[in-house]
Order: sequence, then structure tokens, then C-alpha cells
Amino acid sequence: MAKMTTEEHVQSIREGYSFDGLAVHLGAALVDGQVHHAQVRLPLRMMNRHGLVAGATGTGKTITLQLMAEQLSGHGVPVFLADIKGDLTGLSTPGTPTEKLSARTASVGMDWQAKTFPVEYYSLGGDGQGIPIRATVSSFGPLLLSRIMDLNETQESCLQLIFHYADTKNLELHDLKDLRAVIQYLTSDEGKSELEGLGGVSKATAGVILRELVTLQAQGLEAFFGEPEFDTAELLRQAPDGRGILSVLELPTLMQKPLLFSTFMIWLLADLFSELPEVGDAEKPKLVFFLDEAHLLFNGASKAFLSSITSTVRLIRSKGVGVFFVTQTPKDVPGEVLGQLANRVQHALRAFTPDDAKALKATISTFPTSNYDLDAALTQAGTGEAVVTVMNEKGAPTPVAWTRMWSPESTMGPSKPEVVSGIIGSSALMQVYGTATDRESAYEKLNAAAGTAVPDQVPTGGSVAARVPGPGQSQADIDAAARQIEESILGRPSSIPHSAPGPGANDYAMPESTVATKKAPGRAPSAPTSDPKPDNPMLDMAMQAANMIGSELLRGMFGTKRRRRRRR
Ligand SMILES: Nc1ncnc2c1ncn2[C@@H]1O[C@H](COP(=O)(O)OP(=O)(O)OP(=O)(O)O)[C@@H](O)[C@H]1O
Ligand SMILES: [Mg+2]
Repeated sequence: MAKMTTEEHVQSIREGYSFDGLAVHLGAALVDGQVHHAQVRLPLRMMNRHGLVAGATGTGKTITLQLMAEQLSGHGVPVFLADIKGDLTGLSTPGTPTEKLSARTASVGMDWQAKTFPVEYYSLGGDGQGIPIRATVSSFGPLLLSRIMDLNETQESCLQLIFHYADTKNLELHDLKDLRAVIQYLTSDEGKSELEGLGGVSKATAGVILRELVTLQAQGLEAFFGEPEFDTAELLRQAPDGRGILSVLELPTLMQKPLLFSTFMIWLLADLFSELPEVGDAEKPKLVFFLDEAHLLFNGASKAFLSSITSTVRLIRSKGVGVFFVTQTPKDVPGEVLGQLANRVQHALRAFTPDDAKALKATISTFPTSNYDLDAALTQAGTGEAVVTVMNEKGAPTPVAWTRMWSPESTMGPSKPEVVSGIIGSSALMQVYGTATDRESAYEKLNAAAGTAVPDQVPTGGSVAARVPGPGQSQADIDAAARQIEESILGRPSSIPHSAPGPGANDYAMPESTVATKKAPGRAPSAPTSDPKPDNPMLDMAMQAANMIGSELLRGMFGTKRRRRRRR
């Protein structure tokens, strides 16, 4: 690119970032070491094309997401924020106009005013304060549960049958102990004949599922599953003054319980996906997610889970939902997800080690050609500065802009604990979700029928079944996975066209060694690896039936038997 004069460079940024529709102001452009009157913005229309906020520690990522969330709220857009360090509670306290802050905001052309924002605080799994978010096992469904437990296809089909059995016998699955009770019953002497009637479920497989359920418990999921179930429509609300509500999920123990967060996220995205209508590229998003410390979402997650996240992120765009990942380096986000993040706010990267240097080079390669020396910009950007490129209203990348960011109007850093507890205590949602309930369900019914407590034991012995290898990295794989999710969750044919099947293109969540036939809803699952025995015609028939029932069941989970929503 021919070297421009400073004025030409500034002008190209000014033009590149002037949009017709609503936009979030990120800051003012820095060119040749000076801040200029050239505002760098992100069009609301393009926020469903997702984004990445990255940068080394202390460079201003969390403040950037606070700034964006505030403005989205101002435009009436609800926002969901995962708050790991508790520093987003500052949204409930007006900012302090210090001299330094006033000088900064004036220099970037911001008309700063101290403000607070409408916030709801949530908690997960009984950790920390906040309105507790719970989901019932039945609404979570056997498919998602299998993804979380990393079950293979045989085990997944068995789990579907178990859900179906519980459904036909009116054994409600509210919490993990309900599901455990049903499986324990089926594997007990009393339930033996029922288990045999279920065809595709072997005692050994039921035992494996039972052990995996115990793992979920150990990861703190017991308190997530149960009633009253959270209505995800709560996240789509506006305050009486028309501002979007900021839903802040406090996650103080995320480091110890990453599975709890990923379980919740996948349920939330799937639920929103099935509930929201298609909107395509709307004027403004319906909801925007900011997932701070996003590496914790992906670290150690199973491939099946990563694949589900990738597909859901891809599909949820057309529902008007934007997802912004906030993390130290783009390397923290899996490649397939990264490729879908059109809006980039890259704070300074460190370049101390050879690995840092590689990451820097990789990051630079993802930016459009630019008049900046990106190497310098990405290593020298100051705190609260970032290198930005977003998607313009025509769907093309904007020119790269080294940006000095605007500042939040609420407090940077945490609010006082009493401010937060006051907001939680006075929230109308506390009346609805505050206290866990334990209505009569499978556990109680089976106990009553047996006249004794269902033994709360886990069968021992036997090896945990093989883990499911995930799909490959190709576009075809992602599309196949996306199609499968759409078809199985929504129970209707997918709108995503079939791409030419490459190797492993259709092996989503199938053991690699058994990939033989094309995966489609209603198709009989391929022969299982070890348990139960492979080429057994009776079993094959049973599995076909299981799969059909499974599809029906999923249809029920997310389609016809949709939960009644309050939608206030
Ligand atoms: N836009 C801004 N305006 C004013 N000050 C800012 C801005 N961005 C960052 N800062 C200052 O930098 C500090 C660190 O920012 P922040 O907490 O967002 O960093 P971070 O990248 O999220 O760090 P970590 O990786 O440790 O979470 C803030 O507390 C604030 O003082
Ligand atoms: Mg941070």
C-alpha cells in the first residue's frame, strides 16, 4: 500500500467508519502518534457477526467490553456479560470524573457523563450472590447432556431411550438425582424387565452413564440442574426507560468449575437458538454476549463440546445474537470459532518470548493490509488503546484504526458489595428464581414405589467407554455439525446446504473407527465400538428404533413440547 500522508490516512479512517445506522463508539483514531478527529465505530447492524477483544493482561479488555455494553444498553440492546473477576459490578456505580479521566475523554471527543446502568446479577450452581440460574435435566435434553458428558453415539442413544422411558412413565427429570434414580431403577433387579423392554440399553452402558453423572456432580452441576428453571427470555428485556438490561453473570469459582460454565453456555445458546425467530441482519442485535476470560470456556473442553459451540455460534447469528470473546491472545479461541469473529478490537500484545512473537505474527496476518506498521501498533498501543477493524454495513472490513478508546461512564472496577447485594435483593427476579424447589419427580416417585430409598450408588468396575473423537477441522465438518444441531434441536430439515463430503465430513460425534455411513437424522447409528456388541441384527433394529425415538424426543424437547415462557 502506497504511503499516505497523515491527513489522507486520517481521512481514510473517517470515511471507513462513517455509517448510516446506529453504532457503538469505540474511540478516536491515532495516526502518526496523534489523536485525530476521526471516530472509530462499530455498527450495531454488524454485531451479530461476532467479535474478539484480545490483548495482554492489563491492556484494557474488560474496560472495552464495559464501554461497549454501556452503549448497547443505551441503544436498547440487552447484553449478557460473564464476569469472572467481579470487576463488571462497576456498571452499578457512576464513574468518578477525575481530572485524568476528563482530559482523556475530552481528547477522544467523548461527551462523558457519570451514569449507572440497569443490571441484573446472576449466579450459577449456588456460587456467589446473584439470582440463581437453573435448568431442568429434561429441558437440557439427552443430546446436550451427551455432549457435556462426552458420551459416544451408543451411549447417547441409550440416554435418549432412558429419557423417553422416563417421559412415557411420567417420571419427571428435574435434577440430576431424578435421572440417577431412573437409571438406578432400570439397572436394579426390580427394573430389570423394564430395561430389557428398552432394547438398546445395556446394563453396562447405563452404568457408564451413571458414572459420568457422578463426574458432573463433582464439577458442581448438581445445583445448576433443577427448578425453578430460568427463562432465557429474561435476558432479552429492556428497562422501563427503554435501555437494554445488562445481565451480569458472576463467576467467582469458574477456574475450579469450568464445566459448569460451559454446560450453562451451551444450554443457553441452544435454548436461545431454538426460541428466537430468524431475523437475518437486523438493524440492531437482539442480544449481545461478552465472554470475558473466554479461554476458560475452551480449556479442556471436549471436542464434541467445541464442535457444538462452533456450530451454535455460527447459526445463532441469524437470530440476531452477537457473541464477543474476550481473551489474552487470539490463540485461546479455536480456529473454527476465530474465523467467525468479524469485529476485532486488539489491545497490545506482548512480544517477549519466541512464542509471543509467533502469536504476534499470526495476529498481524489476520488484519487487512494497512497504512500502519502493525508490528509497532500491536506492541506499542498504550493501556486503553487498541488496533481495530470491524465489519462495515456492506459486510467488508473497515480500514485498520489504532484507536484510543472512549471510557465507560460507570465505575471502572467493582462496585461496593452492598450496592450489588442491594440490587440483587430488590430484583423482581429474586421472587421467581431465588429459592430452589423440589417438586415431586422421578426420584420421589421411584422411592415411593419401592417403599425404600433408591440406593444412591454408582456401579463400579468396567472401563469408561471410549471418548468421542471430534470432527476434523474442515468447513464440511462444521457445516455437517451445524446441520445436525439444527436438525436435531429444531426437528426440521436444515437450511444449511450440504457441502461435498470430505474425509470425516459427516462424522460428528461418532467414533472414528466406526464412520461408515452418512449421518442424518433418523439414520441408524453406526455399530458401536465395544458395548454393546457390534454386528448384532437385533441390536441394530433396536438402535434404529432408539434413534427414531431420540429424534422424536428431541423434537419434543425443543419443538412441540417447548417450555411455556413468561416473556414479560
Ligand atoms: N478506555 C479506558 N479508559 C480509561 N482507562 C482505561 C481504559 N481502558 C483501560 N483503562 C485502565 O486500565 C486498567 C486495566 O484495564 P482492564 O481491567 O480492562 O484490563 P484487562 O485487559 O481486562 O486486564 P486483565 O487481562 O488482567 O483482565 C483499568 O482499570 C483502567 O484504569
Ligand atoms: Mg480483564
